[in-house]
Amino acid sequence: MRVLEVASEATPFAKTGGLADVAGALPEALCRLGCETTLVIPAYREALAKGLPIEPTDLAFEVPIGTRRPVARILKCRLPDARGEVFLVANDDYYDRPGLYGSPDDYPDNAERYIFFSRAALELAGRQATSFDIIHCHDWQTGLVPAYQKLLYKSWPAVANAKTVMTIHNMAYQGMFWQWDMLLTGIDWQHFNWEQMEFYGQLNLLKTGLVFADAITTVSPTYAREIQQSPGGCGLEGVLAARSELLTGIVNGIDTQAWDPGNDPHIPRAYSEHDVDLGKYAARVALAARLGRAAPDARPLVAFVGRLAEQKGVELVVELISRMAGSGRAHFVVLGTGNRWYEEALQRTAASFPGTVDVVIGFDEGLAHLVQAAADITLVPSRFEPCGLTQLYAFRYGSIPVVRATGGLVDTVVDTNPDTLARGVASGFTFDAIDPMALEHALGRALDAHADRELWTRLVRHVMRQDWSWEHSGRDYVRLFERTLSRP
Ligand code: ADP
Ligand code: GLC
Repeated sequence: MRVLEVASEATPFAKTGGLADVAGALPEALCRLGCETTLVIPAYREALAKGLPIEPTDLAFEVPIGTRRPVARILKCRLPDARGEVFLVANDDYYDRPGLYGSPDDYPDNAERYIFFSRAALELAGRQATSFDIIHCHDWQTGLVPAYQKLLYKSWPAVANAKTVMTIHNMAYQGMFWQWDMLLTGIDWQHFNWEQMEFYGQLNLLKTGLVFADAITTVSPTYAREIQQSPGGCGLEGVLAARSELLTGIVNGIDTQAWDPGNDPHIPRAYSEHDVDLGKYAARVALAARLGRAAPDARPLVAFVGRLAEQKGVELVVELISRMAGSGRAHFVVLGTGNRWYEEALQRTAASFPGTVDVVIGFDEGLAHLVQAAADITLVPSRFEPCGLTQLYAFRYGSIPVVRATGGLVDTVVDTNPDTLARGVASGFTFDAIDPMALEHALGRALDAHADRELWTRLVRHVMRQDWSWEHSGRDYVRLFERTLSRP
């Protein structure tokens, strides 16, 4: 099966969040299962500055954007050990900028940047010698691809017979733009109607993808249910409910090579479930040095790593720390970047509890690994969470997650209680209400468990032994692709 993966970010090229981890790892997992994959991403400044083996190709073509015809130059990268092929779409006016989507605020021409990318990706695929079976698109940035394939590229043999699959990583970002951006797409105005591309007077690129795709997936079964209702569907619940037989939830996997405490260049000492304490101690010494401290803290380390966005429940973290830091029961470390208000609130909290709360504002891949390795407990108090990878990385590094029971967190974390302990399935601590007291209570339970060495060792061993690799979810995608291909 030949699969084209189209995404706006992918590791190791460019990343703002979990989408990059998925778009980087899934194509390789599909290759291991016998598919041939081609990944297409934009050639951002960040991607070109990383020293990766990216080469120019002879391929360059004009892409119609409204009345203009900007040029897409195609670059290629073959990573060592990678089986799949990777193309990058270059156009310096669009992508040679700081940040992926803005710096820090969204770029005002994001509609145009991703209309161009979507159309260029399809034209690139259309110019290949062998045809594609599946075109797999991710999030609003690629929402136009299914529409282009059905409406404008039916005469291009390499893509004409492909089936399109749209994966939703987050309903909260839909790519909504003013209606006149419709002119840039080259798609006939007749499709700007409430059943296709229009949403309350605006052009909605995610909706476009959901309407035109042959199949829809999202990144966990629970989120697949949540988005067919309000508020989870963020206004598109009706569109999703109407296409519900085509909607499947497949939990994300993780790249177990990139995230491997047994072999991770970002941590000072390799460890496994058998010597977690030694590995975590070494990680803490290194983390203390990074934070400018002489020695590591002896208290349990409670970490939060994530985008500082409303979704992530950052205000719960701020309130939790304000309530609990005084008790001295734990040391808190936060790594994140995003909304300036949250950044400042966190920094103020850190300043109020010197020695107990460390806040690092910024995006730092290596530090994210080190923090997970050093942590005993990882907080994921999200308001909603399509899948969440942080808790899966926490498992792998022997940190126990405390999560709100929503979306993919429900599908991946099993609350610790006498029953789940007896069955050997307990893997974290969950809470329901969007309320700092509920989070505090769950964290309190986790800290009590941490004080019981035997219980904690059992929990840590269990979570580290779990297999969240792409093996299983990759198979689910292959089965879904096969089902989609067999439908008339
Ligand atoms: P989302 O995609 O909603 O941001 P996920 O949990 O799926 O949430 O994935 C988040 C990814 O981004 C993880 O790989 C996490 O380590 C990473 N990440 C988030 N914030 C930062 C940061 N400030 N520095 C480094 N990595 C980060
Ligand atoms: C999104 C979601 C997150 C998910 C990630 C990868 O950014 O917020 O829950 O894990 O995409 O699918």
